[in-house]
Amino acid sequence: MSKHIPFRLAPEIRKRVTITADGDLLSKGTPNKFLDDIKNFEVRPTDVFVITWPRSGTTWTQYIVSQIVHGQEFTDKHNINRINYFIEMQISTVDSPEADDKEGIYKMAENGADPRLLKSHLQMKYLPTQLFTKRPKVIYVARNPKDAAVSYYNFTHLNTMLPNYGDWSEFYEYFHRGLIPYGDWFEHVLSWWGMRHEPNVMFLRYEDMIKDTKQTVLKLSNFLERPLSKTDLDDISRRSEFGEMSKNRKANNDLMNNPIFKKRDNANLKFMRKGIIGDWQNYFTMAQNNHFNTLFSDKMCDTGLTFDFVHAQSSL
Ligand code: A3P
Repeated sequence: MSKHIPFRLAPEIRKRVTITADGDLLSKGTPNKFLDDIKNFEVRPTDVFVITWPRSGTTWTQYIVSQIVHGQEFTDKHNINRINYFIEMQISTVDSPEADDKEGIYKMAENGADPRLLKSHLQMKYLPTQLFTKRPKVIYVARNPKDAAVSYYNFTHLNTMLPNYGDWSEFYEYFHRGLIPYGDWFEHVLSWWGMRHEPNVMFLRYEDMIKDTKQTVLKLSNFLERPLSKTDLDDISRRSEFGEMSKNRKANNDLMNNPIFKKRDNANLKFMRKGIIGDWQNYFTMAQNNHFNTLFSDKMCDTGLTFDFVHAQSSL
């Protein structure tokens, strides 16, 4: 029996998600049969994981990390989704000639060369057990939940592995209950906030990345123990800004032929959509905002974790 009773999933949503034995929701791209293999996935101490609740700046962070670890030239030559293993997703969801939708990307990763870059949106309990024994580097990125939810809602219109929600208000009803693929934002973020003092863990906030990208690149290079020259630091920071990265065919999913991002034929739907702080103000009703603020205060009050919900210089 699902733990998420009494709110029920609409049948058309139920059809388009994976529901785990614990009653958690995952993307359709992660069938339940992958979960044991992922738990038993062999982690190497040299691995670098980027872990996030969806739409929190994962790809951006991967792009920065790839340049720090592999260099800009290498990163420019290869599709970002091919040099970062999205471990729980089906192979067919990467632009991959050897696509086989019955296998998980973790299978490809098994033979990956060191240092492997890996990505996951899974809640902590579904991650490889060895993540906590081999202690590879883990970068966790959190984004304020209002913007992350709005970005996620828009993404459901694009991504064929995610359900269709009628409108923002319908999405909000599922979101605040944690009833969307990858689950409850609070549980996800707070599980890694609790790990932030571990030496192999770096906890970043999307809003800090926006406010000072260069500082973020520097922090990441220190954490990854890969010092950068001043020129490289400047170049990576510039190339990772939203405008520059958006033009990069290897880094911006909108410019790739990935079949999973073709749900609706609408040119206004983008993977790299706005990249700002505060877009939630264009979506949340006053009632939703009041409701969510109360929830946020209840869940976050004793944690010491805060977020910027608007950009200081925002013109929204
Ligand atoms: P928006 O939909 O708000 O624009 P993820 O990679 O985890 O799916 O996150 C996607 C979000 O990160 C999108 O947010 C996207 O625009 C934003 N993003 C991607 N690259 C970015 C960059 N270089 N700078 C700022 N935001 C970026």
